[in-house]
Amino acid sequence: MTVRTPLIAGNWKMNGSTQRTQQLISSLCSGVADDDDRIMLLCPPYPYLHIAAEALKSKAIMLGAQNIAMEPDSGAYTGEVSGLMLKNFGCEYVIVGHSERRALYGETNEVVSNKFIIAQAQGLQPILCVGETLEERELGQTQAVVRRQIQKVIDSAGSAAFSSAVIAYEPVWAIGTGLTATPDQAQETHSFIRSLISEQDATIASLVQIIYGGSMKSENAKELLSMDDVDGGLVGGASLNAEEFLAIFQAA
Ligand code: 13P
Repeated sequence: MTVRTPLIAGNWKMNGSTQRTQQLISSLCSGVADDDDRIMLLCPPYPYLHIAAEALKSKAIMLGAQNIAMEPDSGAYTGEVSGLMLKNFGCEYVIVGHSERRALYGETNEVVSNKFIIAQAQGLQPILCVGETLEERELGQTQAVVRRQIQKVIDSAGSAAFSSAVIAYEPVWAIGTGLTATPDQAQETHSFIRSLISEQDATIASLVQIIYGGSMKSENAKELLSMDDVDGGLVGGASLNAEEFLAIFQAA
């Protein structure tokens, strides 16, 4: 059986302050050993990356960003932040294609796949978010939606690109709603996602981390994380509370 390292990532979204970032990180550091065999990753808003990078220096916790510019180089792109800048700040990962960016900022599968490629070209591991809306689930379209979202990246980046990327299954109806996918619902889609990659390359499919996001909390984490194809979590609300987030980490 393949052993995939569990990854517990906190997506802080547009939350925090200088002080809150320092407090949260100092509480989290005490709960993660240097030789932990799980990965904890924090994705704070851009303005707090520098403080987070300083606080995490020589700690086992990793740093990531929530978004990346589609353009490879510096230039006249007002408001954008490039992958090179993120690397400069100590980021190792970047979230691409979060459903909030798809729904609120018009990011299409094409934009997401460009960001995925740029992230890798600049040495960042993309965390590719996919997932269906409630309406799509009720219409029985979950697999078709997820297939389209992943296929676009396979077509543009190639399946080998998934040897240095993470996939996050985040059903849109479970994000910030308190509704969580059941462990069986999560497992069904995670295993479908792995089979999509496996159609191209079975070895890469067996190694790629597929993490779950959508109202993951300490009380449901253990069950979700015990499923065969659930390799970690992408945690929103509960990642803003050190005790909750550490409890999820320990459940992995
Ligand atoms: P919640 O954990 O708040 O539901 O958010 C999940 C999410 O969107 C993580 O990216």
